[in-house]
Amino acid sequence: MFENNLAFAQQQDQKDTLNKYREKFLIPTNNKGEEMVYLCGNSLGLQPKRTSKYVEQELKDWAKFGVEGHTDAKHPWLPYHEFLTNSMAKIVGAKPSEVVIMNSLTANLHFMMVSFYQPTKTKHKIVIESDAFPSDKYAVESQLKFHGFDPKEGLILWTPPKGEELCKVLDLENILKEQGDEIALIMIGSTNYYTGQSFPLKKITNLGHQHNCIVGFDLAHGVGNIQPNLHDSGADFAVWCTYKYLNSGPGSLGGCFVHERHEQNPNLKRFTGWWGHNKQTRFNMRHDFDVLSGAEGWQLSNPSILSMAAIRASLDVFEEAEFENIRLKSIKLTGYLEYLINELNDERINMITPKNPKERGCQLSIQVRNADKNLHTRLTNADVISDWREPDVIRVAPAPLYNSFEDVFEFVKRLKEVLN
Ligand SMILES: Cc1ncc(COP(=O)(O)O)c(C=O)c1O
Repeated sequence: MFENNLAFAQQQDQKDTLNKYREKFLIPTNNKGEEMVYLCGNSLGLQPKRTSKYVEQELKDWAKFGVEGHTDAKHPWLPYHEFLTNSMAKIVGAKPSEVVIMNSLTANLHFMMVSFYQPTKTKHKIVIESDAFPSDKYAVESQLKFHGFDPKEGLILWTPPKGEELCKVLDLENILKEQGDEIALIMIGSTNYYTGQSFPLKKITNLGHQHNCIVGFDLAHGVGNIQPNLHDSGADFAVWCTYKYLNSGPGSLGGCFVHERHEQNPNLKRFTGWWGHNKQTRFNMRHDFDVLSGAEGWQLSNPSILSMAAIRASLDVFEEAEFENIRLKSIKLTGYLEYLINELNDERINMITPKNPKERGCQLSIQVRNADKNLHTRLTNADVISDWREPDVIRVAPAPLYNSFEDVFEFVKRLKEVLN
């Protein structure tokens, strides 16, 4: 199906209906002005060209209206987050009332745990995958401590079988069989940042719910990459950032999902702020807190409009391209990357990421045995932007909206040169 030559890669680009989207992004260049091979959307997505226009509009409206921009801006700031809701809901497979853009990822994770981690003396343990992103681990550990538990006892790591890199659902099943009565929360990265492994969210949720555990997901590496179908998965909550595959700029606001079955639950504790208050009476200022229904009720502060403008720009690109098409291209593009890497036939290379496209997004984690960071430096010197994870893994993520088959071909060509 694939061929190992530049002409083939270029032909695939010509046939690709999403190829035109590459031009809608700013691709970083070297000091000669030549485009780099950018395969780092798993870390920071590239800037859509339209973003500056969207952000400038808000700057102009701020200059023109001052505070009145809350109601008079072209896109009024008071309800600004609502302009993002429908597109965001589609991308994560949720109902609009189940999603909201607010805060940043780790902050949202804590706010979700305030509501959904309600430990008791006997049922207080938390399960995370052993190679969870450090911020997630720190967050759940600190929640355990906050509630008076010792993370050494309360944190259960879902670990791959000895000598393997990928977690097996069977092992999670066993953890639940043995300790389900003591587990309050399962909090897993939908797509692991290190291995690129995407987990079966619905299966994990069902398993957790069979044991009366709350199930939440961190979609940092899943959103805009795989379709998590959050509503159907039945997950209780999810959180994500928008600066990776959602291309909305460094440190941009995060997103949050709360399943609709929790919408009207008055027993859920939460930390509150005025942005979660009834919109009709929010500015009366003196009312008792009257929570908005749905995910919006978890908002605390009035959000950064400049960040939301960048998110809106990016989501508009997703709307136009349609996520189903993006995912289809992604499967092919990453398949091509995998094929070319296999073609290298290099014994030092070990692909950590699952081979089954249903168990991964666009990222491949390539272990290069006996390599050190010099390898990555040489790749960078060859105008490839990828990322390195100690001790010996290069992570590359061809993002289907702006990466081409030619990018992938060029990357493997340069990797081969660097390896030799
Ligand atoms: C899986 C995962 N979780 C959490 C974070 C932390 O995100 P933030 O700094 O936006 O809170 C990241 C950041 O890259 C991440 O990849």
